Amino acid sequence: MTCIDCFEDHGLELRSYRCRRCGGPLEVQVETDRVFSASNLSSRVQSIWRYAELLPDLGSPVTLGEGMTRLVRCERLAKIIGVKNLYVKLEGTNPTGSFKDRGMSVGVTVALRAGARRVVCASTGNTAASLAAYAARAGLECAVLVPKGKVASGKLFQARLFGASVCEVSGTFDDALKTALGEAESIGAYILNSVNPWRLEGQKTTAFELYEQMNGDTAFDVVVPVGNAGNISAIWKGFRELSANGLIDDLPRMIGVQSAGAAPLAKMMSLGLEEPSWVEDPQTIASAIRIGRPVNWKRAVRAVRGSGGMIYSVEDSEILEAMRLMATSEGIASEPAGAAPVALLKSKVQSGELPSDLTYVCIATGHHLKDPNPALVSWNEPTTVEDYLIRAGLQRIKSRK
Ligand code: F0G
Repeated sequence: MTCIDCFEDHGLELRSYRCRRCGGPLEVQVETDRVFSASNLSSRVQSIWRYAELLPDLGSPVTLGEGMTRLVRCERLAKIIGVKNLYVKLEGTNPTGSFKDRGMSVGVTVALRAGARRVVCASTGNTAASLAAYAARAGLECAVLVPKGKVASGKLFQARLFGASVCEVSGTFDDALKTALGEAESIGAYILNSVNPWRLEGQKTTAFELYEQMNGDTAFDVVVPVGNAGNISAIWKGFRELSANGLIDDLPRMIGVQSAGAAPLAKMMSLGLEEPSWVEDPQTIASAIRIGRPVNWKRAVRAVRGSGGMIYSVEDSEILEAMRLMATSEGIASEPAGAAPVALLKSKVQSGELPSDLTYVCIATGHHLKDPNPALVSWNEPTTVEDYLIRAGLQRIKSRK
């Protein structure tokens, strides 16, 4: 493992996630003399662990069959938003309904090997739901810290169902994370936020799956919602490892998207600054990415700059419109954060800031039933049979004319 700031070599650290010299974030360096290829993957286990050569070898993993999520080609939606080729990767089909399961499978496996008995995280909801489930699977005690009143109901339900101690914190996710990082040691808990580099090792498998699902042709742009900024960094790490092992020629461009009310990195990049200014009171309907101080900002900026990409922001109204378009034109859906990539493409392709003649892969990061908020479907109010019959009858008369 090495520090991403000062490159200090750390050997293997299962517990520490900060550089002992400068305090910077640690990153796992993978060295392997054999790697999978598209042709020898087909008979392997249906989970992230099929990519074993590039994952830590720690004995039998804590797994719920995470990964192998569907990649859906969306021709109707592509036409509506004006791009040549569009794919949406449905991360909601993971065991607890979000991409977090990829990272938790690796992270909780490492926690067990490190001798932990208790795990903890702060969360806007999905990390909490996922950690609660994997901790239960591993027989570990689990506590999750969430911003009170700011978590989608499905996620809170999951964390409670899987038996985690759910601690509500007044303030934002950023306050909850500060508390979790500050208190973890005092209660002997292993921290499983994305500051933990092992989480990112699991999440990088999204890149491996895209390589496999696109038959080795990685000439596309990947559009990812950004909150704490771990996932975009992890996916980029996955593509870099594919390239380093000679499996791909093209490194995709990584395009990040934040909500306009919680967009410190989009602002930093659009102004060409070297450091972000934090957003103290982030606001957005996409509660998963309601984050004002992304801890992985350095990794994310490096991923985006290294790939020739960018981080942009979208308005809540654009996210709602993207949810509606995905659902009604393709029958695929996501919680609001996961619809932000489609919202971004629609806006930037129409304004000419992103080219229309490319292939785009949007990562729909969480299941739509996580957040069954009626405000998200206010454009389609339920009606009575009588009213429906009148409306349908009128439509029929109109269509005959
Ligand atoms: N999309 C969804 C559905 C999420 O839950 C998150 C993060 C993101 C995107 C952003 O990913 O943080 O790696 O940039 N959710 C975290 C949580 C913060 O606590 O569940 P990121």
